[in-house]
Amino acid sequence: MSEFYPIVTVEPEWVLEGEDMGSKEKFWYRETGDTRNCLFKYPRRYTGEHWAEKIAAEVAACLDILHARVELAEFQNVHGSATESFARRGRVLIHGNEILGIMMSDYNPEMKFHQSAHTLGNILAALDNAFTNREDAMRTKQLLAQYLVLDAVIGNTDRHHENWGLLLRKLEGNKWDGFFAPSFDHASSLGRELRDEKRDRLMAEDRVGRYAEKGHGGIYWSVDERRGPSPFELVRRASHAHPDLFQSALAKLDRLDEGSLRRIIDRVPSDWMSPSARKFAMALMCYNLEQLRKLDP
Ligand SMILES: Nc1ncnc2c1ncn2[C@@H]1O[C@H](COP(=O)(O)OP(=O)(O)O)[C@@H](O)[C@H]1O
Ligand SMILES: [Mg+2]
Repeated sequence: MSEFYPIVTVEPEWVLEGEDMGSKEKFWYRETGDTRNCLFKYPRRYTGEHWAEKIAAEVAACLDILHARVELAEFQNVHGSATESFARRGRVLIHGNEILGIMMSDYNPEMKFHQSAHTLGNILAALDNAFTNREDAMRTKQLLAQYLVLDAVIGNTDRHHENWGLLLRKLEGNKWDGFFAPSFDHASSLGRELRDEKRDRLMAEDRVGRYAEKGHGGIYWSVDERRGPSPFELVRRASHAHPDLFQSALAKLDRLDEGSLRRIIDRVPSDWMSPSARKFAMALMCYNLEQLRKLDP
């Protein structure tokens, strides 16, 4: 096995179409002779959104949490990431905002920011209603708990209502068969927006923990909050309120330690991520992991 992650070089003739959802520039492509579509995502300028996507997917794999597969990728000499589509074999992705819009008469699925009705309570209720079988609903809610634990480890502040969903397939007789889509879009994590000087200062002043605790996430705790709690604070509150969902999710943390995190980061090629960015991503995940281990649902 090579020391560094492989880099996919996307050829112009593979390009299929743009993707309108989400905020970043990106397009779908399919490698000649392949049956799978992939989403090439450009990182926003001066950010590490591409390596954040890759590291997050590798952390999810290490935690055994269902996730979209990601590779580092290049298109016309520009660095980015490539996410393999999980919408296959006639399945379509129905996003959280569409699900909540169907389940709640006063939910505005079009809202891009400050959708405070996107609470954990409303999401859990909507998932309960979406499944006729109680076991399927429970399994789905437990998967959501796992995604939230992943978000807390990597500091993903972007779990808004278009960044989770159900994968549905139409059956005969107007029935639908569906399951929770693998976790996707982890670009807003691991301090990817920081400049190296800021990273160095935060680490020198021992402020990585403060940084982790102050980021606001995309899921609210209550509708009257102005902003969502940090991904870590959400898990702190949710694991007390819903131990049946979070116990098994938190138990997955036993699969991660400093050594495995370091190996995941070290496999990013040296010209893709600065030494400061590596040190900071490592410090952030170690802090989050240590705090999460203290939770006792
Ligand atoms: N692995 C995937 N399989 C299928 N659809 C996906 C996958 N990843 C992303 N998408 C679709 O593409 C949209 C944009 O991708 P996303 O990673 O969320 O980009 P952005 O960072 O711009 O929000 C998503 O909202 C979803 O509809
Ligand atoms: Mg998105």
